[in-house]
Amino acid sequence: MRAIYTPRDWGSQPPLVFPAYKSTVRRGPSRPLVPIAQSLSELTGPVYGHEDVGELDHDLTRNAAGNGEPLGERIVVTGRVLGEDGRAVPNTLIEIWQANAAGRYVHVADQHDARLDPNFLGAGRCVTDDEGRYRFYSVKPGAYPWRNHHNAWRPNHIHFSLFGPSLATRLVTQMYFPGDPLLDLDPIYQGAPEGARERMIARFSIEMTEPEFALGYIFDIVLRGRGATPMET
Ligand SMILES: [Fe+2]
Repeated sequence: MRAIYTPRDWGSQPPLVFPAYKSTVRRGPSRPLVPIAQSLSELTGPVYGHEDVGELDHDLTRNAAGNGEPLGERIVVTGRVLGEDGRAVPNTLIEIWQANAAGRYVHVADQHDARLDPNFLGAGRCVTDDEGRYRFYSVKPGAYPWRNHHNAWRPNHIHFSLFGPSLATRLVTQMYFPGDPLLDLDPIYQGAPEGARERMIARFSIEMTEPEFALGYIFDIVLRGRGATPMET
C-alpha cells in the first residue's frame, strides 16, 4: 500500500537517541528505521468532535475543583494548530497534562516531595475550532526534579498531545515558558535542534492576558515543514 502519511522532517525534530537525555539511549532504536506499510490500523482511529468534550474540560482551574480553586498563578494558553502552508487544522483533539504549581503530578510514579493540590488534576482537553484555535485555562506548572543527572530539574512545561484523524497522526510535544533559566540546562529541550527548539516556547501576550484574572500565553503548533514544532519521539 502506498504511504499516505509522509515521514517526519528530521531537520526540526530531536534525534531518536540523545545521550544527555538518558532514557532515549534505552528506548531509542539502534538500527535504521524500517518503513512499514500503512494499513487500516494506522490510518483509522477514534473520531472526536466538540460534542464529546465536556464544558469544563479545557479549564484546569475548575475541572477538578473539590473545595476551592487550585493554588498557583492563573494562566490562559491559546494558539492555533497549523499545517505547513499556514492553513488552520480544525476539529483536532488537543489533550494537555502538567504538574501543579508546586511541581507535582497526580501520578503514582511521581514521588517528588511536593504537595498535591486537592483542587487540581492537571489534565484537560479541547477541540480546535474552524480557525484551528484552542484555549486552556490553568495554573503555571512548577519545575520538578527528574533524576536524569545530578540536580536535574525540568523547566516549567505543559505536555500537549494532538490526536489528528488517525492513530498514526498523534503528535506529542511540550510547551515552555519564556525566560526560564532551566531551559539551558534541560536535555529534553536541548535535544531539539537549535533554531527549532525555540518554537516550543510560548509567547507572553498582554493582549491575551485577562485583566484581574490570568496571564496570557500564545503557543502555535505547526505540524509540518521548515517551521514545524519539534515533537517527541
Ligand atoms: Fe512533565
